[in-house]
Amino acid sequence: MAKEKAPESTRERLDSLKGESVAGDTPVGPAGDAKAAERIKKAANASQRSLATKKKVIGEDAESPKGPVGLDIGTTHIVLAQNKPNYIETIQDLNAFFTVPSAKFAEQILDQKEVMYYERDNEYYIFGYSAESFANMFHGNTRRPMREGFLSPDEEEGLSVIKAIVNGLIQKPKKFGETLCFIIPGEPLDGTGSVIYHESVIKGFLGSLGYSPLSINEGMAVVVSELPEDDFTGIGISMGGGMCNVCLSYLSFPVITYSIQMAGDYIDTMVATAVGEPATKIKVIKEEELDLTREPKDRVTTALNIFYDELIFKLLESLQRVLSSTDKIPKIKTAIPIVLSGGTAIPKGCRERFEKMLKNVSLPVEISTVRLAEDLLNAPAKGALTMAMTEAE
Ligand SMILES: Nc1ncnc2c1ncn2[C@@H]1O[C@H](COP(=O)(O)OP(=O)(O)OP(=O)(O)O)[C@@H](O)[C@H]1O
Ligand SMILES: [Mg+2]
Repeated sequence: MAKEKAPESTRERLDSLKGESVAGDTPVGPAGDAKAAERIKKAANASQRSLATKKKVIGEDAESPKGPVGLDIGTTHIVLAQNKPNYIETIQDLNAFFTVPSAKFAEQILDQKEVMYYERDNEYYIFGYSAESFANMFHGNTRRPMREGFLSPDEEEGLSVIKAIVNGLIQKPKKFGETLCFIIPGEPLDGTGSVIYHESVIKGFLGSLGYSPLSINEGMAVVVSELPEDDFTGIGISMGGGMCNVCLSYLSFPVITYSIQMAGDYIDTMVATAVGEPATKIKVIKEEELDLTREPKDRVTTALNIFYDELIFKLLESLQRVLSSTDKIPKIKTAIPIVLSGGTAIPKGCRERFEKMLKNVSLPVEISTVRLAEDLLNAPAKGALTMAMTEAE
């Protein structure tokens, strides 16, 4: 494949990524090696625990956590991870809302049905999985507090909705100042969105709840969750709803992190436009039926295949572009793994397609395998919890 000349703005962004790290650590070098060994030991202990996952049950009370917490506030889902005596528990809710005009009569019904909502300016804001049920009942679409990985500039109430969803998952900690590690996106390569703004606003909210918040890059969280046996050396990729996040980690240090603002939502929108159907309908077909190992059977699955290919192509192209134009990559003697996670990596055949298309790009590091995370939707939250447990020790 021909190497593309990166536009100036991209080059500048690539330069600014150099040395970016999760908690301000020195990247690599002799001092870094000793520090890395310590981090690896601690993180490996924390991450080799089994995972039990559940969806938020509407009406169920939020817990007051006893111990460190991992939190992944994503464009589609919000996932909370907690350390239980013998396993890691994750609970997820939908990062969405739906509004209906408020009325005393409706309030009784909402309370009876234990729907999650709050009232503002004569409207009920119904949030989480409840929002999806209401949107279906009213033949409408849910709205999203986030777009392409960041707080949505179009939704004034976005942060309030996120606060309400998080409050539905956790209460204030039992111990004031408990460590909470939350996911932040990588700087977008060619797009828009401010990581600093997003991170600061969420940090402020979590701090006001009584936590000591610290952030971790989403791709790095995937590495922490999935690569303990590789000494946390490899490339973690989260293919989510709003974006794909990438991190090249060397001995637990995030050497390169970035994102592209294309993922599941992009596929839904592009297919919807191509076949003239609503994106919500395409999303349901994609999640329930798509199998990338089979020949497409109709217009929708044909378009889904085309846009999956396009997404994987753009992701690999960005990887080649970023890795080839940085001098930050350490001399890694052995081949390193790539681990894929996120909801968009779920369809059967996604890993194989990624692996096949990887053969067409040339990277300055050798890749040993392309693996899938053990739990695709919950890997970043598990990585965030592992980091919180490691930092809290
Ligand atoms: N079974 C499935 N098949 C295909 N896609 C799926 C499936 N389940 C979920 N998805 C897609 O995964 C995406 C959501 O993934 P995920 O929860 O990892 O994203 P997120 O973390 O909320 O978003 P981001 O990281 O981009 O901010 C959505 O586009 C959704 O349609
Ligand atoms: Mg995500």
